[in-house]
Amino acid sequence: QKLSIGLIPADGIGKEVIPAARTAIEAVGSDIPKTEFIDLEAGWETFLRVGNALPDRTVEILKNDCNCALFGSVSSPSRKVAGYSSPIVALRKVLDLYANVRPVLSVSPNPDTPPAVDLIVVRENTECLYVKQEELKITENGKEARATRLITELASRRIGKMAFDLALARPREHLTVIHKSNVLSVTDGLFRETVRSVAELDAKYKDVTIAEQLVDSAVYRLFREPQIYDVMVAPNLYGDILSDAAAALVGSLGVVPSVNAGDSFVMGEPVHGSAPDIEGKNIANPVASIRSAALMLRHMDYIKAADRIDAAVDSVVREKQYLTPDLGGSAKTSEVVDAIVKRI
Ligand code: NAI
Ligand code: MG
Repeated sequence: QKLSIGLIPADGIGKEVIPAARTAIEAVGSDIPKTEFIDLEAGWETFLRVGNALPDRTVEILKNDCNCALFGSVSSPSRKVAGYSSPIVALRKVLDLYANVRPVLSVSPNPDTPPAVDLIVVRENTECLYVKQEELKITENGKEARATRLITELASRRIGKMAFDLALARPREHLTVIHKSNVLSVTDGLFRETVRSVAELDAKYKDVTIAEQLVDSAVYRLFREPQIYDVMVAPNLYGDILSDAAAALVGSLGVVPSVNAGDSFVMGEPVHGSAPDIEGKNIANPVASIRSAALMLRHMDYIKAADRIDAAVDSVVREKQYLTPDLGGSAKTSEVVDAIVKRI
């Protein structure tokens, strides 16, 4: 048995933090099968070089030769560039990675006290406004732009199932459905009802308690009383925003991991972007990527390996000697990686 892991650092600090995640995986040794890493290209710089942000070769190798993958971050331009579209949005689609699972967890100062923030944002990953159907029209009153927002029963049901399963595996077994169906009663109404129906149709979820929260007040309550949340499930855009917001509660975007998960493939990905403001300085926090590697392994049931990586990260964060500047320290990326690897 062999494990083949595709590595797609892509742009910016992705090129610094994905190698860090690889080092952490290598350190777990025999708790996972013999591992082969396959370097793959994607991103803005790839686009500039070959005219395609997601080369066919990358997709083919991921589909045919890899058990899982790690993605860094892309630098997507804010203006429209002919021929360019975001490779991560495309990868989620072609690999059918319909769920983006983002645990937001604080590290308590003492290993025996529970963390102040311990929640999971489960973000639908394939539709909502991210179907990217936009049009621009010139009218007699000037320009007019429109976007299509797609919500389907199928996608809402499978993300709902994923969220209920995650809730079921946690001690509190509590799920909050995030929506805005007071305004968007058709689209968010369908999301809300479909997610709720998952529990009505399957008795195994009968112990999961369900709450609902409108997305705007959800952000407010997230900041004031994060402990009310356990698992939060949301359509794509709300989930994107909520998980970045939640990252502020645990100190930095540089520590929040995620996996993009489907029924047959999983891709780890730090929640942060390519961070051009700190790129190339060896100060990017590698924790989000290393935890994404752990989460990916956990998703594939390599629990012991995942636990060892997470415990090593916890201990380094708790000790405070090796923290990057985003967490108030002065350590370099490479020093943090060395400290974590030593503990693994
Ligand atoms: P960003 O996440 O790249 O950065 C936001 C802030 O957080 C910056 O001040 C950055 O220095 C800091 N930060 C992020 N990750 C960090 C880390 N590991 N260690 C220390 N500090 C960290 O978001 P921004 O600036 O909005 O976007 C920059 C570029 O990234 C854009 O081109 C955007 O399109 C892209 N992006 C890509 C994503 C992806 O690949 N999935 C996700 C989000 C943004
Ligand atoms: Mg985001």
